[in-house]
Amino acid sequence: MLAMNYRGPFRVRADKNMPEPEILHPEDAIVRVTRSCICGSDLHLYHGLVPDTRVGMTFGHEFTGIVEQVGPGVQKLKVGDHVLVPFNIACGKCSFCKQQLFGNCHESNSQATAVGAIYGYSHTAGGYDGGQAEYVRVPYADVGPMVIPQDMDPDDAVLLTDVVPTGYQAAEMGGIKPGDTVVVFGAGPVGIMAAKCAWLFGAGRVIVIDHVEYRLDFVRKYAQCEAYNFRSLEDPVLFLKKTTGYYGADVCIDAVGCEAAGSTAQTITGRKLMMQAGSATALHWAINSVKKGGIVSIVGVYGPTGNIVPIGNVLNKGLTIRANQASVKRLLPRLIEHVQSGRLDPKAIISHRVPLEEVAEAYHIFSTKLDNCIKPILIPPSARA
Ligand SMILES: NC(=O)c1ccc[n+]([C@@H]2O[C@H](COP(=O)([O-])OP(=O)(O)OC[C@H]3O[C@@H](n4cnc5c(N)ncnc54)[C@H](O)[C@@H]3O)[C@@H](O)[C@H]2O)c1
Ligand SMILES: [Zn+2]
Ligand SMILES: [Zn+2]
Repeated sequence: MLAMNYRGPFRVRADKNMPEPEILHPEDAIVRVTRSCICGSDLHLYHGLVPDTRVGMTFGHEFTGIVEQVGPGVQKLKVGDHVLVPFNIACGKCSFCKQQLFGNCHESNSQATAVGAIYGYSHTAGGYDGGQAEYVRVPYADVGPMVIPQDMDPDDAVLLTDVVPTGYQAAEMGGIKPGDTVVVFGAGPVGIMAAKCAWLFGAGRVIVIDHVEYRLDFVRKYAQCEAYNFRSLEDPVLFLKKTTGYYGADVCIDAVGCEAAGSTAQTITGRKLMMQAGSATALHWAINSVKKGGIVSIVGVYGPTGNIVPIGNVLNKGLTIRANQASVKRLLPRLIEHVQSGRLDPKAIISHRVPLEEVAEAYHIFSTKLDNCIKPILIPPSARA
């Protein structure tokens, strides 16, 4: 079958000779992909920053598809169902899944006890192949996949597998109270969605920080917020303090993660020399520009090894840090309502529709931020007919 094939850092290709997935467990399903996306998290893999990313793997943890085959243990899902598949692979039965911590399932990922499994996200996240392919194997098929509601646009559905729940959970973990000032670092798809969702929780002011002008322009309109380029601010932390009466923001959200720009020292130690798990510049800014007693919500991804963070400021300011992979399945019912009511319009962030055959080009455009790229989606040949 046709699928994305990882060949090493900055090298991916569309390969027509990838093996088709098979049912390996009675609770598996095989899904024929109708749409998949490239996520900022895939860029960490693409840039070679995630340990144990093996050559020959197919990435892609955001996808929709039609169920082609089900194992004998699958009870609810039926052949022919058009489903959206959360990026977390979760068993639904372990004590973490029972607490709805579907991103921290204890059964699906034998390689780690922190994160559960994620489609197409290296062997540190379970070693499962992902959905940037014609077909994908979906384990625990009765747990994750959800039939796409009749009236829902498939473009909205595919964004419900990751970007929308992640942005929403970023705002939710911020514990936003009515009138709060919320600062979102990062104007990628996740930061854009976090800014939009902050209003749903009653924010009084939403400020987004990035250095890519077209993304700042986009988020200003899409999320009706203020947006600033940190390159044109002398010091983003000082700016944020000044604009909040020297108190600091009530809530800061890190929607950047381990590839943050903006500090030479962090870039060299984190991204070039790999002395820490990527650069933590946005996290530093978040901790330093939130008010005393405030909340820092982290959805930007950091690796399994360590990062240097200003823990003294966390302690002395009495901060609460909340972080996780999004728990997609937990959030889906309410997010579907938000999309159906029009409060959220996810598909508006899709900037590129790319045939799966051109996956290499799509990675390049998204990674290099060419052509005003916000969110690329990949369409396999059978879904273009
Ligand atoms: N926790 C989760 O469940 C989850 C889910 C999806 C994505 N993520 C993570 O969220 C992060 C964002 O994902 P995305 O798809 O929006 O990625 P993206 O790469 O498109 O966006 C990141 C943005 O951050 C900006 N940026 C870089 N340095 C910055 C800084 N110092 N301050 C402010 N902005 C800065 C970049 O210019 C870019 O626009 C990634 O780390 C991704 O891995 C986490
Ligand atoms: Zn993702
Ligand atoms: Zn579980």
